[in-house]
Amino acid sequence: MTDFGFLVRQAQAAREKSYSPYSHFRVGAALLTRSGKIYTGCNIENAAYSATVCAERTAIFKAVSEGESDFEALAIVGGKEGEPLETCPPCGVCRQVMAEFCPKDFKIILGNINKFEVYTLDMLLPLTFTSENL
Ligand code: THU
Repeated sequence: MTDFGFLVRQAQAAREKSYSPYSHFRVGAALLTRSGKIYTGCNIENAAYSATVCAERTAIFKAVSEGESDFEALAIVGGKEGEPLETCPPCGVCRQVMAEFCPKDFKIILGNINKFEVYTLDMLLPLTFTSENL
């Protein structure tokens, strides 16, 4: 049984690196590969707001750019700066990026160290548009 608590702690640590001077909403993510490696990411904002990238995509793109393509789970920890952590569901763009690289049973862990819930990609993005539709 995978220790998702450990993955959540990695996401929480990654959140410390969040660059979010505009929204002050800080997010960290930790992506677990099937081989047991962990890639972390944070949200990185930009004065031209649309250039912002979410924590989830930072972690996924780091991993893919290192040659990884076999993913098991992603933990996400987010919330407003200086406030207690709240559940931070992944945005639609990040869900679509997950669908490109991750299986339907890919686990998405939401919450914080004290309390988290485990979802599958299929639960969060049903009726997915993939390469099979092309
Ligand atoms: N954000 C993430 O990093 N992940 C999410 O799942 C939701 C939103 C970021 C993007 C932006 O920097 C800030 O949170 C507010 O939307």
